[in-house]
Amino acid sequence: MDCKDKRGGIVILDFGSQYTQLIARRVREFEVYSEIFPRNAPFSKITESRPKGIILSGGPMSITGAGSPALDDAILEYGVPVLGICYGMQLLAHKLGGRVEKGRLGEYGRTTVRFDKSTGLKILGGIPSDVNVWMSHWDEVIRPPEGAVVFGASEFGPCAAFSFDNERVTGLQFHPEVESTEYGREMLSAFIFDICACEPNWKLGDWVSRSIDGIREQVGPSERIVCGLSGGVDSTVAAALVSKAVGDRLDCIFVDHGFMRKDEPKSVMEMYRGMDLRVHHVNASEKFLGAISGVFSPERKRKTIGELFVRVFESEACRIGGAEWLLQGTIYPDVIESGHVGGDVIKSHHNVGGLPEDMSMKLLEPLRELFKDEVRRIGALIGVSGDFLKRHPFPGPGLAIRCLGPVEKHRLDALREADAIFLDEIRTAGLYDEIWQAFCVLLPVKSVGVAGDVRTYGETAALRAVTSSDAMTASSARLPWELIERAAKRICGEVPMVGRVVMDVTGKPPATIEWE
Ligand code: XMP
Repeated sequence: MDCKDKRGGIVILDFGSQYTQLIARRVREFEVYSEIFPRNAPFSKITESRPKGIILSGGPMSITGAGSPALDDAILEYGVPVLGICYGMQLLAHKLGGRVEKGRLGEYGRTTVRFDKSTGLKILGGIPSDVNVWMSHWDEVIRPPEGAVVFGASEFGPCAAFSFDNERVTGLQFHPEVESTEYGREMLSAFIFDICACEPNWKLGDWVSRSIDGIREQVGPSERIVCGLSGGVDSTVAAALVSKAVGDRLDCIFVDHGFMRKDEPKSVMEMYRGMDLRVHHVNASEKFLGAISGVFSPERKRKTIGELFVRVFESEACRIGGAEWLLQGTIYPDVIESGHVGGDVIKSHHNVGGLPEDMSMKLLEPLRELFKDEVRRIGALIGVSGDFLKRHPFPGPGLAIRCLGPVEKHRLDALREADAIFLDEIRTAGLYDEIWQAFCVLLPVKSVGVAGDVRTYGETAALRAVTSSDAMTASSARLPWELIERAAKRICGEVPMVGRVVMDVTGKPPATIEWE
């Protein structure tokens, strides 16, 4: 996509907060483009899209500690309004000559902030004076910068919000981006529209046409593209979009790596038959099983599978006449979690972190800056069938990262059966569309059981069902107990290898959705 439609948006500098992506989502909910940069990104890069405002995220560090990240002078000199949240606020206070110290108590969770409405600040437009907000900090601003207006205080923090130079700089000690902060959206909206004067021009319909133009510019008139189609929402929407741009210069390759769910290769190929795409089906399951044999480390598994994927694409692309481009359905959270925005590598999503350096094709990733719900909406706009759009996400490395312990065919088969039973129960209960993702994990943990007076010693299946809006955070889905019990009974009865079923009720954070 070219820069034109990003112009005038909001840039977010990431100081490591778990909520940084949420800030970006909130801004986009107002149809304003937002982009996240690592805190040390070159200034010229940050301002390439000519942002109308900059938000400094929170972060885990302490201003008072050695080596804490500083703020580039250029940010404040650039001239657009700056909003600092939590650590971002402390950074601004410090930079402008205020004083930040370790607080006596720290504030975590819900806190009431009293705002001084008499200041008449734009950020307070339409907000009552007492508001429950979400705090998560230890350091506090004990002396605001000279000339700053303190417009919010909590019980333990007399400076919970300050404004400087007529709202050119605003600091909020709490997190307006999280749901638990009342009127958080209103405050962000006031910053974006009333203070930064952004236009709501991030429309997905426009995005589609501009993206199609962008793809036509990027890909030469005679160049060909191969797409790794997985049967999931992201790659399917990416393929549908690119096919609109380049027509039959796109070939899709559906690789069955042997880590698909029960009957998936067949049903996915049937679904693709209804679309205007040329899809080649490659069964490479033996190759993948061989490559993964004896590999136990989650990262090693992901990288091995990612690399083999590309090799299979390359050879298939060669077989069908060559291609200059590899199209992938990479989306924004994949990029973030693979550490490509500057944070920690949580896990290498095979389509981001697992690519070999000597790959011969160029990468085309038109969805790279979108969140999943945006991809689903774009899919609907360009006519992708609801059957695809409603499917639960499925990781690129497939069941290989849900099969803990040795990844062997008989264990994968058992996992496929258990998974199909669990999903069958969820569908029968009419709950499939309400859940972000539900699946089984096979654990190499054996336990003793008894069936028909006979001792059993089987492995463990873990059931996982989560609700989420973008997979950046997730909560355990509260399934009816009868459903869980029925699934457990059926799994132990129908899958001989499994002797016990447990339920994973961990949220994200602290766990991730997938186990590996
Ligand atoms: P985690 O486990 O990181 O997963 O909480 C977040 C979401 O991403 C999916 N996921 C992947 N998707 N390639 C993908 O296309 C991958 O390598 C991959 N790993 C995880 C996961 O299923 C969840 O929806």
